Amino acid sequence: MKLTYYGHACFAVQTAGRVLVFDPFITPNELARGIDLEKVPADYIFVSHGHFDHIADAVALAKHTGATVVSNHEICNWLLRQGVAKTHALNHGGSARLDFGRAMFTAAVHSSSLPDGTYGGNPGGFLVQTAEGDFYYAGDTALTQDMKLIGETARLRFAALPIGDTFTMGVDDAVRAAEFLRCTEVFGLHYNTFAAIRIDEAEAVAKFRAARKHLRLLLPGESHNF
Ligand code: NI
Ligand code: MN
Repeated sequence: MKLTYYGHACFAVQTAGRVLVFDPFITPNELARGIDLEKVPADYIFVSHGHFDHIADAVALAKHTGATVVSNHEICNWLLRQGVAKTHALNHGGSARLDFGRAMFTAAVHSSSLPDGTYGGNPGGFLVQTAEGDFYYAGDTALTQDMKLIGETARLRFAALPIGDTFTMGVDDAVRAAEFLRCTEVFGLHYNTFAAIRIDEAEAVAKFRAARKHLRLLLPGESHNF
């Protein structure tokens, strides 16, 4: 499956002829100024929680692509009020059977208020199962024991994990998360966008290597086949 990075915690996965976009935050992101939102394709948009750096472009992207937005109940209701036509609401542990496979809303330890202050329900992540394999996007979260449950059941091609610290887990806990998830290939997210989450990339890659894991850091616009 082909993954394309759009900066911060936004990326797309192409599988089964569908494009799945996660946490669209492109137009406000200085580091993603080379990406034209109008040219980003999407059949599904997954929103992990209500924070601006995950939902900023969700309404515009859903409107111009006609994509279905998958998120929690409160965020789906809020998006419907902003004029988004198609949503698929989930809550923790629940999954949706979609035309490319299955997506489960997983637990995350974080917060989730929406940009206008509306209650955004509880934050999550997504375990996505497809004919090409499974992957897990943790969303913004601390390291949790719950990740062990995912490692026990799914065989992950890759895990997309936040590594920037301050608002989410940092590199050391992300290495432990990869161990809990029994996953070797890690795609790093949620770092360097703001001063508070700046990291030493070489040190991060070395820490994963020491644990016999592979941390992949892409530039906005770059793709990789997992
Ligand atoms: Ni957040
Ligand atoms: Mn965030």
